[in-house]
Amino acid sequence: MEIIEFEERHIDDASARLAARYEAESQNNTLFPVRVSAAGARAIVAGTRASPGMSGVVAVDGSRIVGFLLGRLILSPPTSTAALVVARGAGVACHAAEPSAAYEAYRQLYAAVAPAWVASGCFTHGIQVSAFDQQAVDAWFSLGFGQAGMRVGRDTNFDDVAGTSKTIEIRQGTSQDVDEIARLVRDLYRHLAIAPNFAPYFSETEPALRAEIESLVADSKNTFWLALLGERVIGVISVGPPPPGVVLPLHCVGVHYTYVEPAQRCAGIGATLLARSMEWARDSGYHTRCSTI
Ligand SMILES: CC(C)(COP(=O)(O)OP(=O)(O)OC[C@H]1O[C@@H](n2cnc3c(N)ncnc32)[C@H](O)[C@@H]1OP(=O)(O)O)[C@@H](O)C(=O)NCCC(=O)NCCS
Repeated sequence: MEIIEFEERHIDDASARLAARYEAESQNNTLFPVRVSAAGARAIVAGTRASPGMSGVVAVDGSRIVGFLLGRLILSPPTSTAALVVARGAGVACHAAEPSAAYEAYRQLYAAVAPAWVASGCFTHGIQVSAFDQQAVDAWFSLGFGQAGMRVGRDTNFDDVAGTSKTIEIRQGTSQDVDEIARLVRDLYRHLAIAPNFAPYFSETEPALRAEIESLVADSKNTFWLALLGERVIGVISVGPPPPGVVLPLHCVGVHYTYVEPAQRCAGIGATLLARSMEWARDSGYHTRCSTI
């Protein structure tokens, strides 16, 4: 196996490898059966490769591509969300490998890209792999990676959710609520920064966080649901399309920020926000699955 730079001429073979990876994962992952066509896989690989700062390597065996990896440096956290995933590091954005050679291919592909990432001062490296791809899981753990988060899902039918509150007032957030939503999301990030998560939190990202909330509120594909105690906003949930770079089945809604003020917890507010937002999701055409980290 030889590791060489990812060039334009590798896009078709890498795309076929990516489509095969999703197909193989779908055999076991019945909740998130992602299937992409050859054209769809090509759009993902070519689009990822063309995005700023991206570079990659391919593993070749003779004339056959057995694996590839595209990644980039993440130098500064523009938003709290980015900081949560990789504070100052590098991320693998797209990857696939032939099942019979995956373990060794991933190890060698990473060995080829990691030195330049470390030399650039980027010491935290991230990748998303399917829990159903045992070869990939084994390969990345063998390289010293740990598990920082897990994306989970279920269907959007929440009629059976127990413990919802009959008394709490829930309403949709508007542009008037941006400050209150930003306050709760900031508190969520601060919560995630304490034990046991110890997620990186950078207070300098707060202005960008407010701008992010503002644009999400203005975007009709996303929505915020707020829990109120009198006039006061005490809880929030946001749902909308999955974040960029995450490939999920069609009509799959992402559950993003979820926070209830500490004094109000365990009174059914979280369950009520979730049930109401899933009702919205089903009415908005996200009828198959919801996913969250
Ligand atoms: C998670 C959260 C939104 C739930 O809100 P809530 O109003 O307390 O939720 P509910 O009262 O509807 O409780 C639902 C269940 O969640 C459980 N729960 C709450 N926090 C939990 C936690 N950190 N870990 C495990 N379970 C938790 C409650 O015990 C309850 O379980 P039960 O019905 O079996 O007793 C709230 O606890 C919170 O804001 N936590 C901090 C932020 C966070 O972790 N957000 C989610 C990740 S982004």
